[in-house]
Amino acid sequence: MEEAAAQFASLPRNNPQKPRRVRCLNPFRWLEVNEGGDVTPCCGSWFKGNLGSLKNQTLEEIWNGERFRAARAAMFDGGDWEQFCNAQTCPQIYNDTWVNVDFISPQSPDIVPITAEMLDEVRNGHTAMRGGPVQIGLSCDPRCNLRCIMCSAPAVKDRSGALIKRALDGVRQFLPSVRRIKLLGDGEVFVVPEARDFLFQFDSKKYPHVEFLIHTNGLLLNEAMWAKIAHIKIDWLVVSIDAATKETYEKIRIGGDWDALLRNLDFMAQKYSEGHIRNFHLSMTVMKTNHREMGSFAEMGRRLGATSTYFFPIIGDYGGEQIFDNRDIPALRRVAEQLRLPIMSEAGIDINALERWRNWQPTFSDYMRCFRNLFKRRRT
Ligand SMILES: C[S@@+](CC[C@H](N)C(=O)[O-])C[C@H]1O[C@@H](n2cnc3c(N)ncnc32)[C@H](O)[C@@H]1O
Ligand code: SF4
Ligand code: SF4
Repeated sequence: MEEAAAQFASLPRNNPQKPRRVRCLNPFRWLEVNEGGDVTPCCGSWFKGNLGSLKNQTLEEIWNGERFRAARAAMFDGGDWEQFCNAQTCPQIYNDTWVNVDFISPQSPDIVPITAEMLDEVRNGHTAMRGGPVQIGLSCDPRCNLRCIMCSAPAVKDRSGALIKRALDGVRQFLPSVRRIKLLGDGEVFVVPEARDFLFQFDSKKYPHVEFLIHTNGLLLNEAMWAKIAHIKIDWLVVSIDAATKETYEKIRIGGDWDALLRNLDFMAQKYSEGHIRNFHLSMTVMKTNHREMGSFAEMGRRLGATSTYFFPIIGDYGGEQIFDNRDIPALRRVAEQLRLPIMSEAGIDINALERWRNWQPTFSDYMRCFRNLFKRRRT
């Protein structure tokens, strides 16, 4: 495993004719704790398997453990990255991007930051990092005030808070190196007491380099909540809404309150326009119940002045809601129509993996899949 790293370190540097390449920098800089405590070096749905579990190891042990080091070694050109990275879901692989590490700097535009020390370690083919990750994401607590119809969090049994406590203990150890903390990829950050208290008590004076990426359903982020978190730096605030009308919202986001959400959204938009939030995003997970509202949702993002309005396809089998994998042809034709609306091509509208459906035409096997799934649903 370490061979690719050693060979990489021995190659001539700064050669524009034959730049030294790394498949991806994420295992050198990012740590993500997923549902059940599984740790990955990027989004859990992009990575095959995990590099450790918070159930029996600490975050520090995992970060420079054998498996994390093996994943880093696999990233050097010639390494076996395919055993770790999922070509179907990971955008780096999907778009076939590589990183010419001798020709970038910490200032180069990138989605995840990297420090000069980390870059140096990558250039030297190191697989054990001296410092901790620069980005940590936590998705390991299902507690929430909603029960959305496409979300797996409400069914998670362990609601003891044990994992988030362990994860936050790990985050505290890494505070000297970490730059961005993402809360929460599952559950609701303003409901989970440990996560909420972590924000309330965060010492921004001691750690001025730390910024937060907050992923929320927005229902509790009102003026009173803002007053308790106003001291933290918010790089990204992502609000998941999944609808452009009250009727659709209440069908999907069970337990939600559309009118309260709209009030909070106006408040957040104001904080964003005043510069208290660096990036303000709205998000829609596209499924059967809301696919007709994509254009209206994009308009909502524009009206609120959001940095961007995201659309993602639903992942997993949620019966009739799964229109993509189940090839619900009539719904997919409507998705294509929505995607071709002029507003969907405007700056700030991000359709991500939905791009492939814009000009999609069903094949014979898509028709077969569609009929099979219709038949299956009728029988159940
Ligand atoms: C699980 S939630 C956690 C954060 C917060 N509670 C919220 O709703 O934003 C994170 C995101 O996952 C999305 N999501 C939930 N279930 C999904 C599914 N089956 N497929 C794709 N995205 C999903 C939600 O819409 C939300 O944008
Ligand atoms: S799955 Fe994608 S993002 Fe994750 S390490 Fe592999 S290439 Fe990087
Ligand atoms: S608000 Fe977020 S975590 Fe809660 S059920 Fe909905 S999608 Fe899942």
